[in-house]
Amino acid sequence: MAKQRVAYRCDECGTTAPQWAGRCPSCEAWNSLVEQPLTTAAVRSIRTLDGLVPAVPIASVTGQGATAIATGIGELDRVLGGGFVPGSVTLIGGEPGVGKSTLLTQVAAAVATGGRDVLYVSAEESPEQVRLRADRLGALADGLWVSGDTELPAVLAQLDHVRPALVVIDSIQTLHDPDLGSAPGSTVQVRECAHRLVREAKARDTAVVLVGHVTKEGDLAGPRVLEHVVDTVLCFEGERHHALRLLRAAKHRFGSTADLGLFEMGERGLAGVPDASALFLADRRPGVPGSVVVPTLDGHRPLLVELQALAAPTNLPLARRSAQGVDSGRLAFLLAVLERRAGVKTSGNDVFALAVGGVKVVEPGADLGVALAVASSLREQPVPSDLVACAEVGLGGELRQVGQMARRLGEAARVGFTRAVVAHTAPDVPSGLRVLRAGTVAEALALAGIGGNDGDA
Ligand code: TYD
Ligand code: MG
Repeated sequence: MAKQRVAYRCDECGTTAPQWAGRCPSCEAWNSLVEQPLTTAAVRSIRTLDGLVPAVPIASVTGQGATAIATGIGELDRVLGGGFVPGSVTLIGGEPGVGKSTLLTQVAAAVATGGRDVLYVSAEESPEQVRLRADRLGALADGLWVSGDTELPAVLAQLDHVRPALVVIDSIQTLHDPDLGSAPGSTVQVRECAHRLVREAKARDTAVVLVGHVTKEGDLAGPRVLEHVVDTVLCFEGERHHALRLLRAAKHRFGSTADLGLFEMGERGLAGVPDASALFLADRRPGVPGSVVVPTLDGHRPLLVELQALAAPTNLPLARRSAQGVDSGRLAFLLAVLERRAGVKTSGNDVFALAVGGVKVVEPGADLGVALAVASSLREQPVPSDLVACAEVGLGGELRQVGQMARRLGEAARVGFTRAVVAHTAPDVPSGLRVLRAGTVAEALALAGIGGNDGDA
């Protein structure tokens, strides 16, 4: 008795339900369930191996790795561990204006210059706008094709036409499939288009790059599942008013996610920053109170970052606390520890703390640096300019070691620092620096020449 079987599927989130309801049981959208026949394939169960590839012992699978397409843009290739893998799909997320289209135009031109065809599908901007940007970037390469299509079937037809080695879809949220019925940008559209492109990438052995918008909270807009279906997720970050841009992999099926790419946005696009520490410290003025350099680590990459603090007396009943590039909760915590454990009284002062250069320093290894910077500003005594500081601070004012000291201190020595204040327990590592060990914040302050007690005044 073959009875036509139907299910209901939510246009918004894609959930299926056996019965129609006015409101989706999963995402609670109103009137979003639409009837959908279940295909025979969906209800059939597989009982034989006819027409299937049987499972094989793992050792008999050939272990050869895919050869990646190097883009020639060093900082990107570093993050990807070589380049884009043919047949893979990469999602690159970032806030509007951070430079996603700029980066991908440069990448597309570089790959095309290397002799492979690249298709740039600009679903957000017209081909004229893309051309203007490419002009500015010097990216008018032979073998770089542009299409302004926003419909998936048209894009697939363009793929048949150009047969590129690399396709850029800018952006996945503006691409849609008219057969799906739901509105462009809806969760179903984004997910189904991405699924289709993943299948096409595998079938054609083409590397696909999807541009994705992120929401204010920093999540990729659209379904979470987008991150699951792609092979690689890259995040492109940076402060709009600073030139620095950071590229990291949040997920990478073909390699490590620990590498960090650094770019500087300029008049003619993005340029790689091979020596980031030098960039961050370029404008540093030695001998100014409230400045401390911290050897931080982002993934595997050591970065020397200058932390600055300013404590200024205030008449406000509630003193201001402002943090930029350092965690504000962590700043409040460190001010409390300074006051109670090290005799550094910041009450009655506005305190501003920031990481120079538009970087975000979130790791606990920066704790001691922030504490020293605050104390240095409050006491108007500069921290010696040849000194770096690196340790986590505990509630009791005790210092704890942080990981990968050799990398951190090695980088500090390379840039010319000669001394480092670290936790008592930090391992002995060959670094070329004189290591000053402290058990507590108060001891570290003394070693940095800004010790003492503010008393109860
Ligand atoms: P864009 O790549 O359009 O950002 P996204 O695609 O992530 O939204 O870049 C936007 C910003 O970059 C814009 O404010 C202008 C700036 N920009 C430069 O500073 N230099 C350049 O060479 C280019 C092309 C853009
Ligand atoms: Mg763009």
